[in-house]
Amino acid sequence: MVTLITSNVNSRDLRKIVNLEQEVFKENAFSKHLLKKLIENHTFFLKLEIGKIKRELIGFIIVINETKERTNIINYLIKPNFQNSGYGSYLLQHTINKIKQLKTIKKIVLNVQISNLIAIKMYEKFKFKRNPSIIENYYHSGESAYLMELDLDS
Ligand SMILES: CC(C)(COP(=O)(O)OP(=O)(O)OC[C@H]1O[C@@H](n2cnc3c(N)ncnc32)[C@H](O)[C@@H]1OP(=O)(O)O)[C@@H](O)C(=O)NCCC(=O)NCCS
Repeated sequence: MVTLITSNVNSRDLRKIVNLEQEVFKENAFSKHLLKKLIENHTFFLKLEIGKIKRELIGFIIVINETKERTNIINYLIKPNFQNSGYGSYLLQHTINKIKQLKTIKKIVLNVQISNLIAIKMYEKFKFKRNPSIIENYYHSGESAYLMELDLDS
């Protein structure tokens, strides 16, 4: 059986987080400076590790509160060789459950590249609704984004 552990990211994880972020998002990656700040500011920043004895970091998710009732998944990834094996769903479900426990949050939002069909499909599996309007030039690469929203009331 696979052992998965979700826990808060701390400053000792920074190097691994930065490397994974760059490997996956390339020119659109968050900078080391920003990731460090997000860890220091005690943002909702969860990592996913695999393995009982020797743990390997295979993904993470960062969520920030935009308002008292609305929270935004600003970064989320699974290490490439672990993708498409259910780990992303596990981490997202865990995160949604944690947010629901807060009771105050009514809506989870996120932006996704319009070409990222895998992620869009995944969010739709979790009942996120895609806003039809395109946000032009959203990423450093010049790519556009969709806004996706999940109402926790419904
Ligand atoms: C998006 C991401 C986090 C999903 O994590 P994952 O571990 O690969 O996802 P899962 O294996 O749990 O699959 C979840 C769903 O995603 C979709 N999916 C995942 N991999 C897919 C693939 N290769 N082809 C088609 N659909 C795929 C499916 O809908 C799948 O659900 P299903 O298995 O019930 O059909 C991961 O692919 C990733 O890190 N991608 C690069 C970074 C990224 O795009 N992050 C999101 C930014 S908004």
